[in-house]
Amino acid sequence: MNRQEEREVLLNVEHLCMHFHAKAGRRKTLVKAVDDVSFQVYRSETFGLVGESGCGKTTTGRTILRLYTPTSGNIEFDGRSLTGKMTKELQSYLTEHITCIFQDPIDSLNPRMTVREIIGEGLFVRGIHDRAEIDRRVFEVLEKVGLTKEHANRYPHEFSGGQRQRIGIARAIIVNPSMVIADEPVSALDVSVQAQVINLLNDLKREYGLTIIFVAHNLSVVKYFSDRIGVMYRGKLLEVARSDDLYEHPIHPYTKLLLSAIPMPNPLIEKERESLVYDVKTAHDYSTEQPHMVEILPEHFVYGSESEILRYRRELKGDALCC
Ligand SMILES: Nc1ncnc2c1ncn2[C@@H]1O[C@H](COP(=O)(O)OP(=O)(O)O)[C@@H](O)[C@H]1O
Ligand SMILES: [Mg+2]
Repeated sequence: MNRQEEREVLLNVEHLCMHFHAKAGRRKTLVKAVDDVSFQVYRSETFGLVGESGCGKTTTGRTILRLYTPTSGNIEFDGRSLTGKMTKELQSYLTEHITCIFQDPIDSLNPRMTVREIIGEGLFVRGIHDRAEIDRRVFEVLEKVGLTKEHANRYPHEFSGGQRQRIGIARAIIVNPSMVIADEPVSALDVSVQAQVINLLNDLKREYGLTIIFVAHNLSVVKYFSDRIGVMYRGKLLEVARSDDLYEHPIHPYTKLLLSAIPMPNPLIEKERESLVYDVKTAHDYSTEQPHMVEILPEHFVYGSESEILRYRRELKGDALCC
């Protein structure tokens, strides 16, 4: 049995498109925020979704949560379609199974609510109205995220950035979701605090068997944390691979660029490194050949035209990786 067969697909995104009609002055433009994106997320894994600002990461997450109605494509979660007509039943299915951690903990926490109310709200919405029961579960989850029950009666502004993100995490996990979409959960935090929050998410993932989509705009944040990584650029998914494969054998020139942007701990190596550039207009010619996602190595997918895939295969052959 290979690695793929052992795992259960929890989320299956197929040919997802989310296009917006936006106004630029008097002109109407079509923004292809997510454009024919397909990927799978296995149960209990962390899937890193990486790409520069504006490439469509948040829109992907929000479309999975059905905050947007997709332009086209399918999303299946645990075998159930999320792309049909929005019904009350589908809405409650979504709120029960998929929760979210946001980038900016101060923006996403209501300043007029106490921590107890913020974290307990999800239980209330799901029909648990017994105050003692809500308190018990709020205190329990506060401890899980490294806070104490004494914090429950305070307000968000009384906490540091890292603590606020712990509150955001507590709010996301109290309902025992199957999957959490963490949308740049550490981007607004100091570097020293980022590692603590990532470690906390890692511990919770192990303890609860959580499935996490971890969104980030650079690869250094997701490096040690994700089981697999998808690289996005201008609404397209360009490469998907296991983390170690992606780091050792990046194939797409944009992935190579993102990797080259990770600072090296050794200043001598750092000084010697060439910095890559990626210009989508000159890097590809898709005028005669349509690009596709191709599995170029086991579980390693890359987006390219037939001649690009041939070239990538030759490069891999040079590295003795591909037959
Ligand atoms: N509601 C919307 N209406 C119009 N355009 C949008 C909307 N949401 C996002 N976009 C555009 O879609 C693109 C992708 O945005 P986003 O998903 O927020 O990227 P990321 O999270 O990777 O920074 C951007 O060009 C953004 O301006
Ligand atoms: Mg975003």
